[in-house]
Amino acid sequence: MILEASKIDFYNLSPILKLKAQSGQEHLVASNAITIAQGRYEPAGWVRGLWDGDIAIGLIAMITPKIKSPSFEEGDHTDAAYLWRLVIADEHQGKGYGAQAVAIAFQQTRVWGLPKLQTSVVRATISPLPFYDRQGLMRTGNMLDKEIELLADVPA
Ligand SMILES: CC(C)(COP(=O)(O)OP(=O)(O)OC[C@H]1O[C@@H](n2cnc3c(N)ncnc32)[C@H](O)[C@@H]1OP(=O)(O)O)[C@@H](O)C(=O)NCCC(=O)NCCS
Repeated sequence: MILEASKIDFYNLSPILKLKAQSGQEHLVASNAITIAQGRYEPAGWVRGLWDGDIAIGLIAMITPKIKSPSFEEGDHTDAAYLWRLVIADEHQGKGYGAQAVAIAFQQTRVWGLPKLQTSVVRATISPLPFYDRQGLMRTGNMLDKEIELLADVPA
C-alpha cells in the first residue's frame, strides 16, 4: 500500500475527477474538479493525483511561496509551503493513505527547500483537526481566511 503523487495529464485526469470525499465532508474541501481548474490558474500551485499502483486514491494540492502569486498577502509565512487541498476518496479513507499524503507534502516542502508546512481547516464539528494533529500539524492560534491555521516543522 504505497501512495504516489502523479502529475495530472490527459490520460489520468478522469479517474481523479471522479473521486469524492465522504458524504457529510463536502464542507471541508473543494471538489477535485474545482481544485484542478484553480490549479491551472495558480502560478505557485502544485496539484497531483494520488495513486496506489493503478488505483486512484485522492488528490493533493500545495502552494509554494517560492513562486510569486496573487494568492500571497502581506504577513503570510514566506518559509512555509501551504497544503492547499487534500482529499482521500470515501472508499479509501481510514487505511493510512492520508498520513502518507502528508508525508508527501513534507517531502515536497523539502524539495522546495522550505522548513515549514502550513495548512488550514474550516471550523466545524466534523473536522480533520485530529487527523492533522496526529501528523504533527499544530494550531498556531491564528486564523487564515476564517480557517484555523496549522503549522509544522518539516521533519529532518
Ligand atoms: C482527512 C483525511 C485526508 C484523512 O485521510 P485518511 O486516509 O482517512 O487518514 P489515515 O487513514 O491516514 O489516518 C491517519 C490517522 O489519523 C486518524 N484520523 C483520520 N481521520 C480522522 C478524523 N477525522 N478524526 C480523528 N482521527 C482521524 C486515523 O485514525 C489514523 O490514526 P492512527 O495514526 O492512530 O492510525 C480524509 O478523511 C479526507 O479526505 N477527508 C475529507 C477531506 C478533508 O477533510 N481534507 C482535509 C482538509 S483540506
